[in-house]
Amino acid sequence: MTSPRSRISKAVIPAAGLGTRFLPATKATPKEMLPVVDQPAIQYVVEEATSAGLTDVLMITGRNKRPLEDHFDRNYELEETLRRKGDESRLSRVQQSSELATMHYVRQGDPKGLGHAVLCAAPHVGEQPFAVLLGDDLIDPRDPLLTRMTAVQEQHGGSVVALLEVDPEQVHLYGCAAVEPTGEDGVVRVTGLVEKPEPGEAPSNFAVIGRYVLDPAVFGVLRRTGPGRGGEIQLTDALQSMAEDPGIGGPVHGVIFRGRRYDTGDRGDYLRTIVRLACEREDLGPDFRAWLSTYVNEEMRTLD
Ligand code: G1P
Repeated sequence: MTSPRSRISKAVIPAAGLGTRFLPATKATPKEMLPVVDQPAIQYVVEEATSAGLTDVLMITGRNKRPLEDHFDRNYELEETLRRKGDESRLSRVQQSSELATMHYVRQGDPKGLGHAVLCAAPHVGEQPFAVLLGDDLIDPRDPLLTRMTAVQEQHGGSVVALLEVDPEQVHLYGCAAVEPTGEDGVVRVTGLVEKPEPGEAPSNFAVIGRYVLDPAVFGVLRRTGPGRGGEIQLTDALQSMAEDPGIGGPVHGVIFRGRRYDTGDRGDYLRTIVRLACEREDLGPDFRAWLSTYVNEEMRTLD
């Protein structure tokens, strides 16, 4: 059953991954807590969800993920210390993360893939459409992708994925969508999906990036979905079944994203994200940009 007119209020954020690409930094710290400038990566994602009107956030966590819960909770001792010092600006930044949304947590247990992580949200989500946000992609707040996606879902029902046009050599890193035009600018109908296609097997160069608005019928499909690429239960495979048969949970649409996206998934992308966001910050940016430009010029001279 599709529910085209219900307001979407729940966001699911899978955060059970081990963060192996950042070891040893992630040995005892969740990768979602790594700072992007001066805020943990995960807070940007929760802020994006709340900006799109999603007030209920469920994180799918696992062992060693307690700092996530602490970050979105009050810290009375710290707050009292800052209050006593009269440090109002830091106090409000510390309080901000605990006031963003109603937070819920569920543990994934065995990490059996993104599809399995999303399935862990079934009892909490119930029968309404909901959003999924993956933490490795940060979307610039000036380009409100999720708001557009929820509007498309409310208009058409079914599910909506975010698509980014990438170089054909990059497609194998993503879920990839076969699409048809809808006549609406930036919105396509998704007719098929392949998780991380082999070279030559990609149906297009539209990559699925980490934002989804899903019909709850996805849970039933995920329960029937066997292990796919990498031996994991893939969300892409469940969406492929739904794209193929709109009778299951309505159509699957794609919103083509042309805005600013910052990848924090590996060390190089993470560093680039920090530099870009630091350059844009009103407080840190002017000094940092001046330093960066001198540094780059000097480095270039040494390399010449
Ligand atoms: C996951 C999904 C993939 C999607 C990607 C977006 O892959 O399985 O379909 O394109 O996120 O970031 P991961 O990057 O977790 O391997």
